[in-house]
Amino acid sequence: MRVLYVMVLAVFHVALSDTLTEVLESKLELLVMKRLLEHCKLTETLLSENVTIFAPVNGAFRNLSEDMLDKLSTDYNLMVELLKYHVVIGNESLQNDGRYQTMNGRHVRYNNYQHNEVSTVDGVIITEIVPINNGALYIIDEVLIPYPNRTVLDIISTDPDFSQSYEFIKIAKMEELLLGDDVTAFIPVNAGYEKLGAAVRNNVAMTPNLLKEIFGYHLTHGTLYSPGLYNSEKVRTLSTLRDTATIRQHNGYTRVNYATIKRPDIKATNGVVHGINLVLVQSRFYTAILSG
Ligand SMILES: *[C@@H]1O[C@H](CO)[C@@H](O)[C@H](O)[C@H]1NC(C)=O
Ligand SMILES: *[C@@H]1O[C@H](CO)[C@@H](O)[C@H](O)[C@H]1NC(C)=O
Ligand SMILES: *[C@@H]1O[C@H](CO)[C@@H](O)[C@H](O)[C@H]1NC(C)=O
Ligand SMILES: *[C@@H]1O[C@H](CO)[C@@H](O)[C@H](O)[C@H]1NC(C)=O
Repeated sequence: MRVLYVMVLAVFHVALSDTLTEVLESKLELLVMKRLLEHCKLTETLLSENVTIFAPVNGAFRNLSEDMLDKLSTDYNLMVELLKYHVVIGNESLQNDGRYQTMNGRHVRYNNYQHNEVSTVDGVIITEIVPINNGALYIIDEVLIPYPNRTVLDIISTDPDFSQSYEFIKIAKMEELLLGDDVTAFIPVNAGYEKLGAAVRNNVAMTPNLLKEIFGYHLTHGTLYSPGLYNSEKVRTLSTLRDTATIRQHNGYTRVNYATIKRPDIKATNGVVHGINLVLVQSRFYTAILSG
C-alpha cells in the first residue's frame, strides 16, 4: 500500500512540472529568451540535461545598451556566450552566497536575503521560480552580463576613484581581507576624503593601526547587494570589536551611517563593492583621528 502511494506521488510529481518547452511557449514574457536559445542552438542541450536557467524577460533585452545590442546582433559568438552565462548544468539547490559555474565557464553568484524576502543572481532580483521537469527556471528582469573576473581588491586598486582608499588599505596592510570569500566593501571615493582635511588625512596615514580599525569598519562578511539592504539594518563589520554600522533608506537613497552609497553594486568574484561619499569613523576614534 505504502509503495503504491509513493509511486503515485512520484508519477504526479513528474506530471506536475511542465517541460522547458511548455514553459517557454506559455510565458509570453520569455519570448525573446526562447527565440535566442533557438538561435544559439542551446535548446537541445537544455532539454537533454538537468538545468538551472536564469531567464530574462523580454523587456530586459530591450533595456540593454544600444552599444551592447549592436555588438550582440553582429557577433554570434558573443550572443552564444551571453546566453550560456544564463545556464548552469545540473538542477542546483541554490544556497545563499553560492557561486555556480555556468555553461560559459564563469560563475554566477546567488543570494537569498531573508529580511527582504528576495533572491538575486549577480545582484539581479529573481521575480519568479518556475519548476520544470528537468530543473528550474528563474525569471529575472535584467540580462546577466558576465562581469570582469576581478576581486574586491582588484576593483579598489584599479579604479581611480578609489585611489586614496587603496593607499590607506596598503598602509594598513589589509589586502588579504579583500581577497577573502564573500566580502562586502563600502569604499569611500576620493572626494569622500575632502571632509577630513589634509591635516587629519596625514595624521591618519601615519597611524596604520587606526587605519586598520577604520577600514575594518567599512567591510562586512557576506555579499550584500543593494536588493538585500534594508532600513535600520545593522551590519556587523570586520573591525576588531565588530562594530555595527546602520543602513538607512530614505527617498531612494541608501546610507551607511552618514555616508551615501553613490556607486552601488560593483560586482567582484569574491563579493561586492559599494562606493560611498564619506569615510566612516567609529565615534570612539573621533579624538584619535583629530590628534593623530
Ligand atoms: C537528472 O537528475 C535526476 C535525479 O534528480 C537523475 O536521475 C538523472 O540522471 C539526471 N539526468 C541527467 C541527464 O543528468
Ligand atoms: C527597463 O528600463 C526601464 C527604465 O529604466 C525600467 O522602468 C523597466 O523596469 C525596465 N524593464 C525591465 C524589464 O527591466
Ligand atoms: C530540482 O531540485 C529541487 C530542489 O532544489 C527539487 O525540489 C526538484 O524536484 C528538482 N527537480 C528535478 C527535476 O530533479
Ligand atoms: C579568473 O581569474 C583567476 C585568478 O586570476 C584565474 O585562475 C581564472 O582562470 C580566471 N577565470 C576566467 C574565466 O578568466
